[in-house]
Amino acid sequence: MILVFGSINIDLVAQVPVIPGPGRTVLAPSYQRHFGGKGANQAVAAARIAAPGQVRMAGRVGRDGFGDSAIENLLANGVDAALVVRADEPTGCAFITVDPAGENAITVASGANMTANAGELPAVLFGAGTVLVLQMEIPFAQALAAARRTHSASGTVIWNLAPVPEEMTREMVTELLAATDFLLANEHEARDAAAAIGLARSDDEAAAMELARAGDLTCIVTAGAQGALAVTADGTCQRAPAPRIVPVDTTGAGDTFAGAFAAMIHEGVPLQTALGVGCEAAAQQCLTPGAQAGMPTRAKISSLA
Ligand code: RIB
Repeated sequence: MILVFGSINIDLVAQVPVIPGPGRTVLAPSYQRHFGGKGANQAVAAARIAAPGQVRMAGRVGRDGFGDSAIENLLANGVDAALVVRADEPTGCAFITVDPAGENAITVASGANMTANAGELPAVLFGAGTVLVLQMEIPFAQALAAARRTHSASGTVIWNLAPVPEEMTREMVTELLAATDFLLANEHEARDAAAAIGLARSDDEAAAMELARAGDLTCIVTAGAQGALAVTADGTCQRAPAPRIVPVDTTGAGDTFAGAFAAMIHEGVPLQTALGVGCEAAAQQCLTPGAQAGMPTRAKISSLA
């Protein structure tokens, strides 16, 4: 089973000529409502590729219309949402601006996500066959508790270090690394994590190598159009290219990589295959507006055909 424990949001998205800086206002012709949240995005990405019935989502939404539709969307995508709990706080909402190059800026109002509680997850979820997927949009202590329970049961932990918190301490990174099997980060996140534990590196591969060694884990760094690299604890580095595309909206590309990668790790394929599938899925996702709409099904991944 792939268990995603994380955030569930509704995304309100505006296409803008330029992403505004501090003190600036820009006008957009309209806005769209999409399903989002890094956790929910990763669950949907995994469900599009994994065998039916393999993906469960745990997290919190509010007792509101956004919460109703977020749960309906998970179910419609084949994700088991029985572990999504209603909270008194509103469903998480992300305010997203996308520029003509497909780049984005995101503000997340966390709401119910910050009440996620690992203590509510039944023990039966944690076993050697469990692949737990985590991000950084629910309280760190709760994500860490779920990671430790998975590790204790000999399961596999995939932790996507996104978004990097403003205050990422040495202790947090050390605890995270100790409870993780696959650390997923973009270039900035990997360097921030390495710096937090005193391993400042300017180069992605060097940062990944230090993190992999420090945590005795595999560190994957995603770099958009440059593809992805994976460094294992023994220092071996593998790379996968990204398909050439003209992106429409990069929102959710990292989540798509993470979900597709998790589906592949759950199947037990070689690391190189998992990297390639992640890159291909993420590239396809960038061709459609919104985080989830463009996530490919298994049939659309050429390396799995
Ligand atoms: O990674 C993209 C996601 O980040 C969006 O869907 C938004 O909800 C934020 O969580």
